[in-house]
Amino acid sequence: MAPAMLLLLLSLLSPGVSGACGYKSCPATKPGLLNVHLVPHTHNDVGWLKTVDQYFYGAQSSIQQAGVQYILDSVIPQLLADPSKRFIYVEVAFFYRWWNQQSQGMRQAVKQLVNDGRLEFINGGWCMNDEGTTHYSAIIDQMTLGLQFLQETFGDCGRPRVAWHIDPFGHSREQASLFAQMGFDGYFFGRLDYQDKENRQKLREMEFIWRASASLQPPAADLFTGVLPNGYNPPASLCWDGLCSDDPVMDDTSLEDYNVDAVVSRFLDAAYSQARFYRTDHIIMTMGSDFHYENAQLWYKNLDKLIHYVNLQQSNGSNVNVLYSTPSCYLSQLHQANLSWSLKRQDFFPYADGEHQFWTGYFTSRPAFKRYERRSNNFLQVCNQLEVLAGSVSREGPYGKGDSSLLKRAMAVAQHHDAVSGTEKQHVANDYSKRLAAGWDACQVLVSNALASLMGSKEDFVFCNKLNISVCPPTEISSRFQVILYNPLGRSVCWNVRLPVSGVAYNVTDPGGQMVPSEVVPVSNFTRAVRCDQGNASGELIFQASVPALGFSIYSAVNLPGAPRCSSRLRTRKERRGSLQIQNEHLRLVFDPVTGLLSQIQNLEKRINLPVTQSFHWYNASPGNFESIQASGAYIFRPNGSEPFPIAKAVHTHLVQNRLVQEVYQNFSPWCSQVVRLYAGQTFAELEWTVGPIPINDSQGKEIITRFETPLETKGYFYTDSNGREILERRRNSRETWELNQTEPVSGNYYPVNSRIYIKDNKVQLTVLTDRSQGGSSIADGSLELMLHRRLLFDDHRGVAEPLLESGDDGEGLVVRGKHLLFLENTESSADLHRLQAQQEFMAIQMVLAPGGGEPCKKRTPPRKEFSALKEDLPPNVHLLTLAQRDEQSVIVRLEHQFASAESAKYSQPVTVNLQDHFSSFTFTAIEEMSLDSNQRRDCMSRLQWTPAPDAADPQPDPTAITLEPMQIRTFLVSLRHPKSSSHH
Ligand SMILES: *[C@@H]1O[C@H](CO)[C@@H](O)[C@H](O)[C@H]1NC(C)=O
Ligand SMILES: *[C@@H]1O[C@H](CO)[C@@H](O)[C@H](O)[C@H]1NC(C)=O
Ligand SMILES: [Zn+2]
Repeated sequence: MAPAMLLLLLSLLSPGVSGACGYKSCPATKPGLLNVHLVPHTHNDVGWLKTVDQYFYGAQSSIQQAGVQYILDSVIPQLLADPSKRFIYVEVAFFYRWWNQQSQGMRQAVKQLVNDGRLEFINGGWCMNDEGTTHYSAIIDQMTLGLQFLQETFGDCGRPRVAWHIDPFGHSREQASLFAQMGFDGYFFGRLDYQDKENRQKLREMEFIWRASASLQPPAADLFTGVLPNGYNPPASLCWDGLCSDDPVMDDTSLEDYNVDAVVSRFLDAAYSQARFYRTDHIIMTMGSDFHYENAQLWYKNLDKLIHYVNLQQSNGSNVNVLYSTPSCYLSQLHQANLSWSLKRQDFFPYADGEHQFWTGYFTSRPAFKRYERRSNNFLQVCNQLEVLAGSVSREGPYGKGDSSLLKRAMAVAQHHDAVSGTEKQHVANDYSKRLAAGWDACQVLVSNALASLMGSKEDFVFCNKLNISVCPPTEISSRFQVILYNPLGRSVCWNVRLPVSGVAYNVTDPGGQMVPSEVVPVSNFTRAVRCDQGNASGELIFQASVPALGFSIYSAVNLPGAPRCSSRLRTRKERRGSLQIQNEHLRLVFDPVTGLLSQIQNLEKRINLPVTQSFHWYNASPGNFESIQASGAYIFRPNGSEPFPIAKAVHTHLVQNRLVQEVYQNFSPWCSQVVRLYAGQTFAELEWTVGPIPINDSQGKEIITRFETPLETKGYFYTDSNGREILERRRNSRETWELNQTEPVSGNYYPVNSRIYIKDNKVQLTVLTDRSQGGSSIADGSLELMLHRRLLFDDHRGVAEPLLESGDDGEGLVVRGKHLLFLENTESSADLHRLQAQQEFMAIQMVLAPGGGEPCKKRTPPRKEFSALKEDLPPNVHLLTLAQRDEQSVIVRLEHQFASAESAKYSQPVTVNLQDHFSSFTFTAIEEMSLDSNQRRDCMSRLQWTPAPDAADPQPDPTAITLEPMQIRTFLVSLRHPKSSSHH
């Protein structure tokens, strides 16, 4: 007998304290009749038109009538009063707020409801995260946080079995894969392309199996998925919330307006017409919507009557049976139907709800926030790791109380489908940023405590968070300073340090006191224009640092007074003969002598030579026109014409060259510039773009793109990542499962790019890594584009009711700066580089500055200048995705194989690592493999099987020798012992 079976049997035999939650608690249905599962639910956005706290309390009701506290206050007594009633709750960010305010008595009552399956948690993340603009690392973390609260509060009965993304604007394949690996039995969503939906209804493929990974062995990433019939709303005219205007069920024949017959027949019509699109004797109806059930009595009283009168018809021969239910009870019935289901392999992007309504603008909306969110994830991982590496002193140390939980929660909130997506009101976007900033503050204390402890020296640490605009007071002012570089990756890296300075030359030394080459280049006038009066540095000090795995290196810099002017040569194009070009050991970039634009890239080792023209363009945002009133807005991208306008046909350039870096500065317009950069030794070129404030004084909204044009014969194909992990093949004007009628030649071909996009032919691949989520496409063969920034004059009528203006503090509009990393490689070896570099981007080095000369913690022990928690680097195909304290006792360790199968001849192989062999700073005293979200032991996971039985159970492996298959993430809870605490007397 399979262990899963045995477990199921055991839990059936022992009644246990958990009563009858889960599938066992499902209401009886009537075989042979059409069973309609009514699912009372509320959709609670974790911030959108109001902030998350305003939604919780119900403040600002002039913006929107919505108060989550009242919803839970109102629903619970309804459930307590009637055991037949059901309710599902989804967003733990709200539930957690409410729970904290309840009495012991109320908590006990709610626990009973959960144990009886009458209140059921569904999805169970901190929020219902966006899928188009999120990174897998942050998705896993936000789900972990929500599910951990439910596990700790309610035990196994609190564990959701169904994933529920009823509102996100399109669905990524990686999301489904992650849900499967968290142990979900099924998944329901509300939004998909209107043509896709029509087609699926016709074919009765509204429910199917999503094979959500091309690498993982089925059914590891298979997820049963259902498209809800009506988004997440009730059928027409059957909405009984205080926010609806449908008539209640009026059932006293002696009173005016008796309507039971009309309501019943309307309901039966809805049920029959819905049943035509589904395959079993069961259908689901979502009885609720945004912030419904604030007065739960309204819904429940009318549903009680509906159920009563509809089922009464059974005695007249009606074959419809209606009942209170939940998504998991509905799922359980689908499972019992024992059918075989069609397979879906790609994703559900882009989402369109009409011919000119492609929701592809939000892939880019609020680009500054999207970058802040990604950087915040980077810093959270650093914070989490240092909390583990330094232990309790990181939380209670010389700098005060350090705390990672604020940033964890702020990041989880930021994953909401109106947060990082950029589809919230401006004041709500400000609130998300404020929360992240408070999280940064608390983590900075933690990181300071941890660094001081690991270094053995209390320094005046400074975190310079504006380095991208060359602002960092300590390095600008001091003639000597220390640069502490913390590397969160499981392998050592070389890092190009760039710091604003006022001197012209510095003596930079590595942790061993050896001098390393350094250069000072002038701060560009592009940067001066953005930083305004925030800083005064005249130059940027550049040097290359090497930092060990999961550890730090400390470099020192001393100003050399009276040194000659900086050695960098600075030339404008006029002074030069011939074409402008820059090169390092790997790449040569050639610029057109007339236009100043990038015109050619050569990979010198691989002898590839590709004409590439790169330039910036803008789409004129539609204000709505004769074809459709649809305007471009926060959600929707609708250009007024398929040809974007160049921002400049020719640009002024100047060149900066020295031993460490070669840079071409290109000035496209007063609000658009770029630095094309090759650091010594780097296998890619860096394109640092600065865009904004986007001018709108011509009354035209603008959507700014960067476009690369090449002669590559791409035959309509291009490739984008899914939430930063697996790669999906895209084909222009085409969809996987239906014959597309393309109605928006640009917007209808946009896809989310969370970390990379590429085009290729048989030999050559051009790859762009991004530093945040952006929309991207290939509108013509050989061409590749990414949308960088948008500024729009109209609202797009999807509820946010604001144009995406992002005026900023001065009202002028935001300036946004970012980087694209450009790789030109042989097609078959491209992944070797872009996979490793992508991880180095989202888990980048964290720099901390200090004046140096701090107080050593122990006399006679000189401060440590270099540290690594690993004995040796992890193999290149293994990524240490998570190292985080889960609770007082246990630590989450996630190891990830970061290559897909067949992606790399070198790295797409199974790989085994031994945790104990790698970590030097502690020993593992216990190790247990968990589900991806770390809340369930892996050997206790038993998912409903929707496909033929899986391979025979794996033999019990050595717990510390961990084998990873391509694209596999394995999650462990470990207990560890720091040598210090065990050896101290
Ligand atoms: C730089 O510092 C190192 C270490 O202190 C010293 O040995 C070297 O002479 C210095 N170089 C210069 C040019 O001052
Ligand atoms: C920067 O300097 C270049 C050349 O001196 C000039 O053409 C350009 O307008 C300047 N840009 C800004 C933003 O000041
Ligand atoms: Zn929503």
